[in-house]
Amino acid sequence: MTQRNEIPSGSPPKNRQVMLIYYSFSGQTGVLLNRLSAGLKDQGVEVFYEKLKPVKHLRFPVGSILRTYLMMFATLLRRRVPIQELSDKCKQEYDLIILAGPTWSYNPSGPVLSFLDRDGREVLGGREVLPLISCRGYWKVHWWGLQKKLEKCGALFSNLIAFSHPNPEPWCTIGVFLKIAGKNPERSGFIGKYYNHFGHSNEQMEEAYSFGVQIAESLKNKTPLSAINFKTDLALP
Ligand SMILES: Cc1cc2nc3c(=O)[nH]c(=O)nc-3n(C[C@H](O)[C@H](O)[C@H](O)COP(=O)(O)O)c2cc1C
Repeated sequence: MTQRNEIPSGSPPKNRQVMLIYYSFSGQTGVLLNRLSAGLKDQGVEVFYEKLKPVKHLRFPVGSILRTYLMMFATLLRRRVPIQELSDKCKQEYDLIILAGPTWSYNPSGPVLSFLDRDGREVLGGREVLPLISCRGYWKVHWWGLQKKLEKCGALFSNLIAFSHPNPEPWCTIGVFLKIAGKNPERSGFIGKYYNHFGHSNEQMEEAYSFGVQIAESLKNKTPLSAINFKTDLALP
């Protein structure tokens, strides 16, 4: 019987295949993944996408300061956000699954928590998984909790990609909070002097592209993903 990813003799070499399972609320994980997948594809890797879709659409921005506080409180309590059924793509075998999403109050986001609870064991169990976190700046507690959940699902993982917003504090926290509420901190006279861009920078997007290239090379050469340094000054300024 042919093992997972083993090429039967006589067959043409098979392209490496990577599945990106992700959730993105304000688009930042999405843009990082776009560039990372471009890096993978440019090296001949086939990329598949599974976007986690909440049953009830979550609107970004949430629309008010009060709603933002309520969302922060709910996410602090790790409230799950129910998601729709996954597509059949998730039942196939891949050389690597990248599980990506934002940090919400020091935790994985509600849709990713729902995915891990409901589908984690079936989709990630026994498979090589590389998590990707997009955050404002505090990814370590998220990563600690996520590792426990991945272990429970039986996922195999040896590295992590985390990108934090490059803005200095406290302006980054204030800016992200106002942005979620639906304000325009970049255009506000006072805050705008210190906060002029929401989310990840163009340089970080190019770093994501370079990570995609390195992951592809690691898959092709069968070197461990743990050997790649993703904790660069650009990803985590
Ligand atoms: C409800 C909520 C809570 C958040 N909590 C944190 C947090 O605890 N730490 C952090 O670094 N960023 C936090 N953020 C910021 C996001 O992680 C960050 O903006 C990320 O880039 C968003 O990714 P996305 O656009 O893919 O959703 C929070 C965002 C939201 C909406």
